[in-house]
Amino acid sequence: MSEIITIANQKGGVGKTTTTVNLGASLAKKGKKVLIIDADPQTNATTSLGFNRNDYEYNIYHVLIGIKKISDVILKSKIKNLDMVPANIGLVGVEKEFYNSRKKNRELLLKKGLEPVKDKYDYILIDSPPALGPITINALGAADSVIIPIQCEFFALEGLAQLLNTINLLKKSINPKLTIKGFLPTMYSGQNNLSKQVLEDLSHHFKDKLFMDKKNDFIIVPRNIKVAESPSFGQPVTEYAKKSKGAIAYTDLAKSILKG
Ligand SMILES: Nc1ncnc2c1ncn2[C@@H]1O[C@H](COP(=O)(O)OP(=O)(O)OP(=O)(O)O)[C@@H](O)[C@H]1O
Ligand SMILES: [Mg+2]
Repeated sequence: MSEIITIANQKGGVGKTTTTVNLGASLAKKGKKVLIIDADPQTNATTSLGFNRNDYEYNIYHVLIGIKKISDVILKSKIKNLDMVPANIGLVGVEKEFYNSRKKNRELLLKKGLEPVKDKYDYILIDSPPALGPITINALGAADSVIIPIQCEFFALEGLAQLLNTINLLKKSINPKLTIKGFLPTMYSGQNNLSKQVLEDLSHHFKDKLFMDKKNDFIIVPRNIKVAESPSFGQPVTEYAKKSKGAIAYTDLAKSILKG
């Protein structure tokens, strides 16, 4: 049985896609079979893994609307053990259909779509868009747990209450087993007092929900140029610059998740 983890935060640009792709690649490197689902019409996870529009005809949208089986839209990435389901800008159509539909279980379309491949992967990671709309609700509805990347900048914790509230509502309704896997501080800069403040706030409020490395330090993804560059080469940073601080942080995150 696979563990399904959604990477979510309705704030934009906080490191959701970066975390999905690099955690996925790190888990695959450790020999786990991983499927990344790009559930964002911006298609950044798809691009980050080196795919372009001509590489695929169908995408997650066709699974959500029920005209394709998930196995028909899975692509093999260049990385061993790492597969992905691409997205397309057409995915915004789901939002509209969702609002117009009175269909029962419309929050569980993704969960249903993933059912047939659940046993084939150790981990399924879902990258979600920067909104608390129907796609994110589907992504959370399908998940066993959620990782919340927090950008170590001003306003980092703004909107967090709303996200946590949404998660609690989902737990009480469509997805009782949903848990918070952890908060991941991202784009941390040691010279920046704001970064330090955000980390302090996080460790004050959510200490037991921060990931720990083997030295029992919090896992923090530093602001690292290699992390920012790697998507333009269609590679996770763990391939593009294996020894970079960013690659090391995501490898540590994978280890922490494997430890359970
Ligand atoms: N640790 C890091 N160091 C440097 N740059 C980073 C780091 N993490 C992410 N970035 C860059 O910051 C930008 C935003 O990251 P990313 O796309 O992962 O965020 P997101 O939450 O998925 O955004 P969106 O809400 O638009 O989907 C990207 O350009 C990414 O390359
Ligand atoms: Mg993204």
